[in-house]
Amino acid sequence: MNINEARAVITGGASGLGNAVARHVVAAGGRVALLDVQDALGATAAANLGPAATFIKCDVTNEQNVNDAVQRAHAFLGSINLTVNCAGVVGAGRMLGKSGPMAGDFFTKVIHINLIGTFLIDKACAHLMTQNTPNADGERGLIIHTSSVAAYEGQIGQVAYSATKGAVLAMTLPMARELAAFGIRVMTIAPGVFWTPMVDGMTKELQDSLSAQVPFPKRLGRAEEYASLVAHLFQSPYMNGESVRLDGAIRMQPK
Ligand SMILES: NC(=O)c1ccc[n+]([C@@H]2O[C@H](COP(=O)([O-])OP(=O)(O)OC[C@H]3O[C@@H](n4cnc5c(N)ncnc54)[C@H](O)[C@@H]3O)[C@@H](O)[C@H]2O)c1
Repeated sequence: MNINEARAVITGGASGLGNAVARHVVAAGGRVALLDVQDALGATAAANLGPAATFIKCDVTNEQNVNDAVQRAHAFLGSINLTVNCAGVVGAGRMLGKSGPMAGDFFTKVIHINLIGTFLIDKACAHLMTQNTPNADGERGLIIHTSSVAAYEGQIGQVAYSATKGAVLAMTLPMARELAAFGIRVMTIAPGVFWTPMVDGMTKELQDSLSAQVPFPKRLGRAEEYASLVAHLFQSPYMNGESVRLDGAIRMQPK
């Protein structure tokens, strides 16, 4: 599939990595639907992208909301052949924090957004992808999960986050195996530390210390680099059922 043919549903598309994917796809001639909870930011992001983009307010944790939003995205795009899951929260917190053990509800909330939200979006999009006419390779679409290096080397304070990022990675192969019958591929990207609003919120000290930990290139990742990998995966039918680290060889320390 060529990136100019992409008809993409992008969750978390109002900001950061998801927004970079939207800009890349539209610049290449594709069409995008941005799904996000941030409506003002999402509407502005879509307006900036022009007529090939739309914003649909969607909370990925709400199944009905997801099904409705994906239907609306399908109507706007004409078809869906790319789904990129970028909606997510950091969910930082220690199991035994300063004010006592982590509330179970907090852990559940992070699981709901990062893991269950990904699954709800995947199944709604995959269902509509099955209606696509397959291309010469028999392909109907690609689903991308956004994991994290925290799936491999979770730091202190990432117990909930790492659980979700490990889980979206682990779903990749069984989902790819199941959806192979429809010509739908499933891939996961595990980013290191990228410049996005998520990282903007950190102290300069922490940002510098994170950059210093990257072997090469000695800097944080650029959102455009994530978007380029999405485009590469879209155009590479043999990439399936696997996770790709995009991290400058960083291996996170315990803290
Ligand atoms: N930035 C990094 O360094 C980094 C590293 C590894 C993994 N990631 C992952 O990449 C993804 C994107 O992160 P980002 O850095 O672009 O962050 P971001 O905060 O810029 O974007 C995340 C977006 O998700 C949206 N969102 C949150 N909860 C939602 C919900 N319930 N329904 C719909 N949308 C919701 C937010 O509104 C926001 O626009 C996340 O899953 C994150 O865990 C980021």
